[in-house]
Amino acid sequence: MNGAAKTMPNTTANALTDVPVFPLDNIHISDADLPAFTDMPFEDIEELELDHPGANDEDYRKRRDHIAAMSKRFRETGVITDIDYTDEEQGIWKHVAERLEELHQRHASPFYLRAKKDLGISNERIPQLTEMNRRLKELSNFRLAPIEGLVDTRAFLSWLSFRTMLSTQYIRHHSRPEYTPEPDIVHEAMGHIPMFTNRNFADYSQFIGYGARMATDEQLEQLGRLYWFTVEFGLVEHEGDIKAYGAGLLSSFGELEHAFSDKVELRKFDLEQVINHEFTYSDIQPVLYIIPSYAELKEVTRKYIESF
Ligand SMILES: [Fe+2]
Repeated sequence: MNGAAKTMPNTTANALTDVPVFPLDNIHISDADLPAFTDMPFEDIEELELDHPGANDEDYRKRRDHIAAMSKRFRETGVITDIDYTDEEQGIWKHVAERLEELHQRHASPFYLRAKKDLGISNERIPQLTEMNRRLKELSNFRLAPIEGLVDTRAFLSWLSFRTMLSTQYIRHHSRPEYTPEPDIVHEAMGHIPMFTNRNFADYSQFIGYGARMATDEQLEQLGRLYWFTVEFGLVEHEGDIKAYGAGLLSSFGELEHAFSDKVELRKFDLEQVINHEFTYSDIQPVLYIIPSYAELKEVTRKYIESF
């Protein structure tokens, strides 16, 4: 087997659902264990909703499609393509990163702050998935796989069982740097990626992935809520303080400021309550949950998934 083939997603592999789920503590996933990407149900990425700030910008759409095509290449080659980001794109990153920096110093979980440094994520330039992926593998055997847009919930979550996060590479529209209706590199790299270097958080994410592969439709909805109130909007106790670790908070100044204002209701994390808590995707979040630690989140979730 040559080098390139070794890193390729195993195209002869079974479908996602054929890979054994138990034991849950299997962190020794290698690239060769990854299932084929075939049949991954993507939402139509060419359909840009009208509320997308770039919907009527011909040049933006071309550029977004171009980067999406680079991301998509991974599925044939297994190799992540670095993106040659333009000065304008770098400017958007710099603008958002600098504004978030001050809020992060005040409100982000100390683990997150360290992890961002460990991964070499700076305010100066957009980090490449290749760099972060290399480091992530060393630290927690998690990995990144580029994708061109939103995938359906079950597929997206299922990939976490292979300690793999599917990640976009394009960036939001310059007219509204504080806002994106879809995941972009700011949301992925500023929000999600650093937390996967935490061993407990990585294991927890993997458990959700296993859950998604076994879940009934109703259980899948519950897992979606669990993911939402932790991975996206989670808060954690730290030495008597409350800190943010959710990607939806860490990658958005509006959400982060709101989370630490008196307009939000903070609740102690309770699994039963969280999995039954319906939320509205597009609203600013009125209720947030605080976990005592990543280790406890992991153990509670283990029991829950084992009950499936
Ligand atoms: Fe996200």
